[in-house]
Amino acid sequence: MHRIAVAPGSFDPITLGHLDVIDRAAGLFDELHVLVVHNPDKSALLPVAQRVSLIERAIADAGIQGNVTVTSWSVGLLVDYCTDVGASVLIKGVRSQVDVAYETPMAIVNRNLAGVETIFLLPDPAHAHVSSSLVRQVSGLGGDVSPYVPKVVAEYLQQPH
Ligand code: PNS
Repeated sequence: MHRIAVAPGSFDPITLGHLDVIDRAAGLFDELHVLVVHNPDKSALLPVAQRVSLIERAIADAGIQGNVTVTSWSVGLLVDYCTDVGASVLIKGVRSQVDVAYETPMAIVNRNLAGVETIFLLPDPAHAHVSSSLVRQVSGLGGDVSPYVPKVVAEYLQQPH
């Protein structure tokens, strides 16, 4: 059986924690779709196409093996994307009990909606404190985010926009 999983997120921007989860998931499934979910009602730091490009380059730079594709999605339910591509599993990285509490209702709803299961992966504890919102804040105030993000992202954020 060809197992397809989807790793969704805002990835605004991708962090080392995300990359770690992508690496683990890529080794567990025949196909992994990293899905940049764009919520039109939420303002974002990076344009969607830029987020996709940075994820692709970060995956290549990290030498992540496996059948990984990066794409974006902005319309409808996440499970509709899963059904369209034949994915039966969603992958979520959980850093803490707070993440588990936040993700649990979504996991149950997604299973009820379309039978799509959610698998929680634990990132390396070294990344437990890293989040995209923290990176956006530190970067916006002129701080160094290179310990928290792939090199391509740190370089991108250093450029004037
Ligand atoms: O990186 P984030 O911001 O934590 O990602 C959250 C995301 C995009 C994965 C989450 O908001 C989500 O699952 N959105 C899909 C919308 C949807 O299908 N909702 C209904 C069932 S939960």
